[in-house]
Amino acid sequence: MENRTGRAGFRIGDVDIANITVFAPLAGFSNLPLRLLAKEAGCALVCSEMISARGLTQDSGKTLRLMDSTPLEKPLSVQIFGAEPSVMASAAAIVQACGADIVDINFGCPVKKILKSGSGAALMKQPVLAGEILRAVRKAVTIPVTVKIRSGWDSTGDQAEEIARIAQDSGVNALTLHPRTVGQGFSGKADWTLIRRIKSILDIPVIGNGDIVQPEDALRMARETGCDGIMIGRSAIGRPWIFSQVLALFRNEKMPVIDSLLRLNAMIRYLDASFDHLGDRQAALMMRSRLGWFVKGLPGAGKFRQSIKHIASRKEAMELIMDFRNGNIQ
Ligand SMILES: Cc1cc2nc3c(=O)[nH]c(=O)nc-3n(C[C@H](O)[C@H](O)[C@H](O)COP(=O)(O)O)c2cc1C
Repeated sequence: MENRTGRAGFRIGDVDIANITVFAPLAGFSNLPLRLLAKEAGCALVCSEMISARGLTQDSGKTLRLMDSTPLEKPLSVQIFGAEPSVMASAAAIVQACGADIVDINFGCPVKKILKSGSGAALMKQPVLAGEILRAVRKAVTIPVTVKIRSGWDSTGDQAEEIARIAQDSGVNALTLHPRTVGQGFSGKADWTLIRRIKSILDIPVIGNGDIVQPEDALRMARETGCDGIMIGRSAIGRPWIFSQVLALFRNEKMPVIDSLLRLNAMIRYLDASFDHLGDRQAALMMRSRLGWFVKGLPGAGKFRQSIKHIASRKEAMELIMDFRNGNIQ
């Protein structure tokens, strides 16, 4: 398929990624129900949230459940974090045994607790240990291995360049760059020029990430950086249809109209998938805040958000959605 950047999809190792779009790992958000919506909207690759390598190897049922999946969302990338090469290798083997298509390593998380444990973005300034982890994981699995990094601890991007080279030399199959420094957290602006720089020094695919808010931003990122894939995080949380808009733009097709019917249908599918896969209690709790995403800006959205605060069952949630659709919540 031709498109406006001349790129259709790409490959990560032997896994075909059908187009340029990737749904970011988002702790607490990118669970199976939301990943399925992203997939329905055309997203080519979905990622689990970060999963503790230690938790996986200690066989905590709760941790294993984070890998719940269905064939519909394939290919699936499962992300692990940790600081010990042997534990990361064992966790990667578990990820592969559980059926993931790709194992992704988190070198980007800037959250204090993670940094304190020496994992996530702490590894951006531990190139020797980072290399050991990447090689241990590479050796432990046959599926493709990818790594997700940040700019590093300063804005020069030199640490990103160093880790990127180590990753490629260690046999990593693709790299995602979120070009913010650790200190920036999620504030300020992502420095896309660093994506271009890292793309220019690597042979493996580079996935660019950071600050795709409107579909047009994705086209701009592709053009400005030459990246192979485009990862979208926060903008897809309440708007999974952004993937269909990005794809239409790249293919030079008419943008799909995102009307209230499409949004309510997405909400119902999210509700069903949540109750099907998470169990009644957890799903009901999640629906109390998350159904509100889908009605943002629609008439009656405020009242709807109030009405869902005490949802206790699938039936009750469905009735409230129907009331909203029929104009009874205004
Ligand atoms: C709530 C939240 C949770 C996140 N969880 C993860 C995670 O588990 N693993 C990871 O690599 N990045 C995580 N990130 C970072 C995102 O994957 C992404 O790199 C970042 O949000 C920038 O992309 P965006 O501007 O498209 O949101 C998280 C970000 C947010 C806001």
